[in-house]
Amino acid sequence: MSTQIILPRVMQVGEGASQEIPTILTSLGCSRPLIITDKMMVQLGYADSIQTRLAAESITAEVFDDTVPEPTVSSIQAGVDTVRHGNYDSIIALGGGSPIDSAKAISILGKFGGTMRDYKFPRIVNEEGLPIIAVPTTAGTGSEVTRFTIITDETTDEKMLCVGIGFMPVAALVDFSLTLSLPARITADTGIDALTHAMEAYVSKKASPYSDSQALSAMRLIGPNLRRVFHDGTDKAAREAMMLGSTLAGIAFSNASVALVHGMSRPIGAAFHVPHGLSNAMLLPAVTEFSIPEAAERYADCARAMGVATEQDSTDVANSKLMDELRALNDELQVPTPEQFGIARQDFFDLMPTMAEQALASGSPNNNPRVPSAEQIVAIYKQLW
Ligand SMILES: [Fe+2]
Repeated sequence: MSTQIILPRVMQVGEGASQEIPTILTSLGCSRPLIITDKMMVQLGYADSIQTRLAAESITAEVFDDTVPEPTVSSIQAGVDTVRHGNYDSIIALGGGSPIDSAKAISILGKFGGTMRDYKFPRIVNEEGLPIIAVPTTAGTGSEVTRFTIITDETTDEKMLCVGIGFMPVAALVDFSLTLSLPARITADTGIDALTHAMEAYVSKKASPYSDSQALSAMRLIGPNLRRVFHDGTDKAAREAMMLGSTLAGIAFSNASVALVHGMSRPIGAAFHVPHGLSNAMLLPAVTEFSIPEAAERYADCARAMGVATEQDSTDVANSKLMDELRALNDELQVPTPEQFGIARQDFFDLMPTMAEQALASGSPNNNPRVPSAEQIVAIYKQLW
C-alpha cells in the first residue's frame, strides 16, 4: 500500500528564514503580494520588516491586518473582497494559525467565489487559489505545512474543517526568531497543540511510515523543550527545537490526520471561545487514557520519543509515565480546567450531546485507535469537570 504525501514546494528553515522572502517570491514568479496578518504582527513590526525587505527589491506589498483569532465566515469577508478587487498574484500569510488559516480561505474564496460552507469537508478542494507563502510566528499550529483550514460558521457555532491541496501553502518560511517574543501563555497553548498533532498523527489509523518518522522526530524535539520555552521565551535553542518540531508535527498530521482530541476540541472552541491549543490541552490526558487500550505500543513509543520513558520500560510502564507526564505538563503550563476558564458547568453539560455530535461529524474521531460512540464522547467531556 502506498501513501500520498503533500508538502509545500519550498521550505526555508532556520534563523532568519523569513528574511529570504524576496528571493522566494521571485523564484515563484510572483511580484504583487498581499500580506495577510493581524494587528499584533503589525504592532510588533513584523509586517513592516517584510515590507521593507520587499521594497529593497522593488516589490510593493500591501497589508491586510484584519484577521482575528479563530477566524469566522464574516471575519474573512473583508479579506476576500480585498483580494477580489485587487490585482494580487500571491499572499504572504504572516502570524499564528489564525492569520494563516484565514489566508488559506481568502486565497480560495478570493479567486473562485462561493461561500466557505461550499468548500467544507468531505469536499476535497484541489483548486489552486492565489499561492500562499506562509510565515508562522508560533510553534505552533503547523498550518504552514498542512492542507487544512478551519473556519467557524458563527451562525451555527460550527468549526468547519476544509481539506485539500488548495489549502497547502506553496512555500513555508520557518523562522524561530519570530517566536522569541511570544508570551508564555500563547507559547504553552500552541506548543501543546503541536505535541497533540504529533501524538495524534502517530496513533492515527491513517498513519504511514512517512508520517510516523515525522511525528516521532517532532515528539523528540517538543518533549524536552516545551517547558523550557514556557519558562524562558528567550531560550533560542529551545525555541528552535519547538519551531522545527511544530513544523514536522504539522507535516505528520497533514498526511495522517488528527484524531479524537481535535475532534472533541473544535466544538469546545467554537461554543465557548477557548483558544485551540488550550482546549486540546484540557482534553489530551483524558482522551489519551481512553485510547491507550487500543494502541498501547504506539502510545509507549510516544512516551519514549518525548523522553519520559526509556527503551527498557515495558509498554505498561511507559504508558503510565506518559499519563503522569501529560497531567504534570498541564499543571506546569498552568492549563485551566473548563471551570477555571470561566465556562458555566450547566452550559457545558447542556451542550455536551451537541458537541459529541459535531465531534463525530468532523470525521476526526474515526481516525482514533479507539473509536468512541457519542455516549463515550460525552463521558470524556464529563471527566473535564
Ligand atoms: Fe491543532
